[in-house]
Amino acid sequence: MKLLVVGSGGREHALAWKLAQSPRVQLVYVAPGNGGTAHDERLLNIDITEPAALADFAEREQIAFTLVGPEGPLAAGIVNLFRSRGLKIFGPSKEAAQLESSKDFAKAFMKRHAIPTAEYETFTEPGAAHAYLDAKGAPIVVKADGLAAGKGVVVAQTLEEAHAAVDMMLSGNKLGDAGARVVIEEFLTGEEASFIVMVDGKHVLALASSQDHKRLLDGDLGPNTGGMGAYSPAPIVTPQLHARVMREIILPTVRGMEKEGIRFTGFLYAGLMIDAQGNPKTLEFNCRMGDPETQPIMARLKGDFSKVVEQAIAGTLDTVELDWDRRTALGVVLAAHNYPETPRKGDRISDIPAATEESVTFHAGTTLVDGKLLTSGGRVLCVVGLADSVRSAQSVAYETINQISFDGMQYRRDIGYRALNRKH
Ligand code: AMP
Ligand code: GLY
Repeated sequence: MKLLVVGSGGREHALAWKLAQSPRVQLVYVAPGNGGTAHDERLLNIDITEPAALADFAEREQIAFTLVGPEGPLAAGIVNLFRSRGLKIFGPSKEAAQLESSKDFAKAFMKRHAIPTAEYETFTEPGAAHAYLDAKGAPIVVKADGLAAGKGVVVAQTLEEAHAAVDMMLSGNKLGDAGARVVIEEFLTGEEASFIVMVDGKHVLALASSQDHKRLLDGDLGPNTGGMGAYSPAPIVTPQLHARVMREIILPTVRGMEKEGIRFTGFLYAGLMIDAQGNPKTLEFNCRMGDPETQPIMARLKGDFSKVVEQAIAGTLDTVELDWDRRTALGVVLAAHNYPETPRKGDRISDIPAATEESVTFHAGTTLVDGKLLTSGGRVLCVVGLADSVRSAQSVAYETINQISFDGMQYRRDIGYRALNRKH
């Protein structure tokens, strides 16, 4: 069996790595992939990104199924295209991907279906948006409606920042179409967690819980990033909270989409804010796996993932049970000089320790040029450690990192700190 994974990040490396472990899988193509997927002998990069060309490739190579990593191609309709050509693919249609690609769609959907989320209003007129900000006061959150590659959310501590965000998006047109509409929402406090499930249109299969670290610096300081590290499981997601999130957020979302005639298939990622009393609210939906959450999650998943995806495509996820490594997996992102602003490219990366039972390193912004591994993006590597406790998994990850270097390498030293500080 030959498979295709679309994307080039750490998430896609981890997905392809896991799929390639199946004895049924001969080869996993990664389009376009990175330096890590280029290096792994069971993976093969192909330099194609255009959806129609990917469909031609899948047809020609008799790809058993395609798995899509990032939101861009999903929002552009790659699933619609593949399905119209009779090609097997796992992900949401363009219509279903609106849960991520339009914040206004997601918020209005949650309101219709009484799914817990922050109070909000949507605006296209700067005047009305500014007046709403003045009426509500700070802190307050301003979000571009469309996909903005992580740049579309401003958590404003002051009204000044909030007004500036509205000016930047609505009047300044700095985010283009994505910012032509803004959602202004209530500021929520609490602890965040990533709740990711697989959906086949009807049935839901929850993946192991995880938690990301979105800020650049230790102690959750500095600018927001795509994610500087993640671990699984996340102790804040107790069995009780898990049941509640399924009942109050995930199932109403899947049923609601079905009722509205937009069946959701694919990975559904609810970004949660859990308040001090343990009540979860939905911060956002993503219609894909998280990055870097995928890396520790895939490191813990046992069994044949290719079979799970096949069942998901066939609509029989209700027959699947996942088996997880009981250990904690903890992944630390090594980022390039000047990430997240304008990451430098082209730095030579030292040799990377081979994977063991306790550690594995996934590539993201790397490229292999004449046998040399160079940085080529903001988040360069994600080093995952596996051990019986969060503390030990952290030690394994950081010991591995001590063997890796490149100019300008930056990373957080405190990944997993929330789990370590938790009172039991
Ligand atoms: P989003 O892309 O909507 O998840 O927003 C990115 C980040 O902004 C989240 O991970 C949170 O840290 C923060 N954020 C988003 N919405 C809110 C909110 N309503 N209250 C507080 N923080 C938020
Ligand atoms: N790690 C956050 C995300 O994938 O959106």
